[in-house]
Amino acid sequence: MTLTDHAERLRALPFRTILSIRAATKPLSAAGWTVDLSRHYLDTDATAALFALAERHDLKGALASLFDGEKVNTSEDRAALHWALRAAHPETEEAQQVRQSVLAAETLAQEIAWATRKGASGERFDTIVHIGIGGSDFGPRLIADAFEDKRRDDIDLRYCANLDPLDLDLALSGLDPARTFVVGVSKSFGTEETLYNLGRARDWVRAGVGKDWAKHFALVTANPARATDWLDGAEGLLLDLPESIGGRFSIWSAGSLACSIALQSDVMEDFRAGAEAMDKHVERADIADNLAIRLALLDYWNASVLGFGARALLAYSRRLRLLPAYLQQLEMESNGKSVRPDGHAVSEATAPLLWGGEGTIGQHSYHQWLHQSPSMVPAEFIIAPGATDELDGVTGLTAHALAQAEVLANGRSLADVQADEPHLPLEIAAQKVHAGGRPSTIMHAPRLTPYRLGSLIALFEHRTYLAGKLWGLNSFDQWGVERGKTMAGKLKPALRGERQVSDAITAKLIAQIRS
Ligand code: F6P
Repeated sequence: MTLTDHAERLRALPFRTILSIRAATKPLSAAGWTVDLSRHYLDTDATAALFALAERHDLKGALASLFDGEKVNTSEDRAALHWALRAAHPETEEAQQVRQSVLAAETLAQEIAWATRKGASGERFDTIVHIGIGGSDFGPRLIADAFEDKRRDDIDLRYCANLDPLDLDLALSGLDPARTFVVGVSKSFGTEETLYNLGRARDWVRAGVGKDWAKHFALVTANPARATDWLDGAEGLLLDLPESIGGRFSIWSAGSLACSIALQSDVMEDFRAGAEAMDKHVERADIADNLAIRLALLDYWNASVLGFGARALLAYSRRLRLLPAYLQQLEMESNGKSVRPDGHAVSEATAPLLWGGEGTIGQHSYHQWLHQSPSMVPAEFIIAPGATDELDGVTGLTAHALAQAEVLANGRSLADVQADEPHLPLEIAAQKVHAGGRPSTIMHAPRLTPYRLGSLIALFEHRTYLAGKLWGLNSFDQWGVERGKTMAGKLKPALRGERQVSDAITAKLIAQIRS
């Protein structure tokens, strides 16, 4: 039987029938997380067929290649060594060098946090401004937002990513350049948004502190030559972002220097330790127990076999409110592709649209759509309260997440509505019907700690890589983002009135905007 046969067989059954059998399914667990896959269109036979798929695609071999430092990023002819950034004792020389880049950043962070390194006028730094975009921004922003309550009292943290000048204006507003330290992160050191914002920040610092302005900057990059040019003879701090670290896998790197400075010293250490624990699990566990393999298989099953084009990520955790945006880049920039490295098109759907937000807040918004729109989207609930000392809140948060998952799955029939509320007019009762049949995953941790954030992100990284293997994709490149950049470069002169454009609608829009 093919996977499609299994899907058709299961789709023909009432979801409740499948769930009554799957209720006995044991949850999986690793590195502080428990994951329950009961509420999916799966049974023992379909799961066995997926395990066979994992064998055919040699997912265990793919993991071995990753952790052996083989060149898994084939189009760029590079290894993907993000795991080495969090490995306490990496074995190979290359992995040790990668790890060293983190240790250098940690040393610098302590110097700034403890004011043994000061600004041009001898004042201690009290604000860190992080400038970067995409993978050079989402990660530190996520960690800092998650552990805002673990920020040092004496250091503020600001961010700037957008080309809209207001973003930097707001980031710098009220700051004293003499006490401000700027962390500029760009792997390529060629990204327009980052260079624009860094340039404006440099002007602002230079106007405030004079010739020693570069003491207020650390540049994290894989392109030290370009960063050195940017410094224009001034002596600035350069930190290494190794070539083998993709931007969206760089949360563990020196690129998170701002967090290392501004958060309590154990946060980043625990964060990386959690990731290392997940690495060990994923590297060693068998297919059946391996969280990353199971989730990658589920992604393939839901997107490519059952045809669900989207997945909702519902984070019941204040600390994880930025997680959907973070994972959008990780998953959609990695696997939002349709051509394999050999140039052949993929014949099936690949990475779904990933979207979502923070529970319970989303319940007062798009959950209406999840429950009652004709579109069906699998949901992934992450239940991980940020604090556990207020039991009522934790109980409420958890109850809401579980209730949402139950209603999505079981729905509410017209007969149920009428039994509960017999006097309702039929047209109202009909509007209270929930179709149900909507699958979901429950990921649970009793409390969201830095360790568990680390293990969760590492899990998603491995899941993304393995799902990419199932689709036959290279998850480490991103050709699709390049075209828009090139086009924008051509349109700027047209917006300044210096040249014409050939596209009639763009030409019309430019004329409107210029007028
Ligand atoms: O959006 C494309 C991208 O290349 C991402 O992959 C990357 O994280 C981001 O731009 C920023 O790139 P850089 O770190 O080179 O400035």
